[in-house]
Amino acid sequence: MNTTKIGWIGLGKMGVPMSQSLIKEGFPVTVYNRSKEKEDRLKASGARVASTPAALIQQSDMVIIMVTDDKAINDIFRGENGLLGAGTSGKVIVNMSTVSPAISKEMAAVCEEQGNHYLDAPVSGSVKQADEAQLVIMVGGAQSIFEQAKPVLEKIGRMAMLVGDTGAGNTAKLVINTLLGVYAQGLAEAVVFAQQNGIKNTDLLTLINNSALGSPFIKIKGDAIINDNYNAVFALKHVAKDLRLAKDIGLSSPLGQVAYETFQEAEPALGDEDIIAVIKQISTKL
Ligand SMILES: NC(=O)c1ccc[n+]([C@@H]2O[C@H](COP(=O)([O-])OP(=O)(O)OC[C@H]3O[C@@H](n4cnc5c(N)ncnc54)[C@H](OP(=O)(O)O)[C@@H]3O)[C@@H](O)[C@H]2O)c1
Repeated sequence: MNTTKIGWIGLGKMGVPMSQSLIKEGFPVTVYNRSKEKEDRLKASGARVASTPAALIQQSDMVIIMVTDDKAINDIFRGENGLLGAGTSGKVIVNMSTVSPAISKEMAAVCEEQGNHYLDAPVSGSVKQADEAQLVIMVGGAQSIFEQAKPVLEKIGRMAMLVGDTGAGNTAKLVINTLLGVYAQGLAEAVVFAQQNGIKNTDLLTLINNSALGSPFIKIKGDAIINDNYNAVFALKHVAKDLRLAKDIGLSSPLGQVAYETFQEAEPALGDEDIIAVIKQISTKL
């Protein structure tokens, strides 16, 4: 029986299916979301609801956070009725959001001061992998705390791997999302290049998907292009944010730099659409 009391913060596109995976596995789960209406779905799935992060940590053994960015993390820890205000100790706090290594180091230090423990544990994979509990989880922090969290993380993902000290999970994630930006831009450019030379999108994508270049990413995003469906699964603004964070830790490679610029330029108009809406930005340039 799974008795670890889980407190879940952040019920966005990823947080909902991830927290539901733990409910399905029988964990007692309490949720908190800034916009309260998003808690109803989880309540219907059997979760309890806490009114603030402070109230949530008081009734949890392990708090898992899945929110947007560094600002959100700061608000959740240091805001009014935030996690730090609760004055608890001995809790494990797992931050699965894609944020900077710097904020993880800052929050890990203040957690340790209170006698709590912090792991950064961002995920690779999107809503489909979250639904299927097949995320890939990369973790930074102490080995002993990772061992405590691992049985829980393995109910959300197909694997959880410790890659180093605090912030190392965030760093690995920024490397992967830089590659994701490059892939998305590469796919968009290939489709536009093919179109300009009289090759149909459907034909091009059938060929790619049957070749060694085929991948789950190209299948899913190729289908989105064919169906003209740019509803956000992974919002373009999040990739733009991740490339900024990658730049902050030294990204300067040729393709990484181009992807950085493309996504910053695309964000004002296309930020709320899916990452592959970058094709609209590319179309205006080619
Ligand atoms: N979507 C994907 O495919 C995917 C894949 C891998 C990793 N990620 C990463 O996972 C994280 C969450 O992504 P998502 O797609 O689930 O995002 P989302 O749907 O935009 O949800 C964001 C969540 O963060 C909360 N939030 C934002 N600012 C906040 C603040 N200042 N204080 C408190 N809560 C705040 C939101 O609360 P409200 O409901 O009140 O706005 C919401 O619960 C991001 O770091 C993203 O980069 C996403």
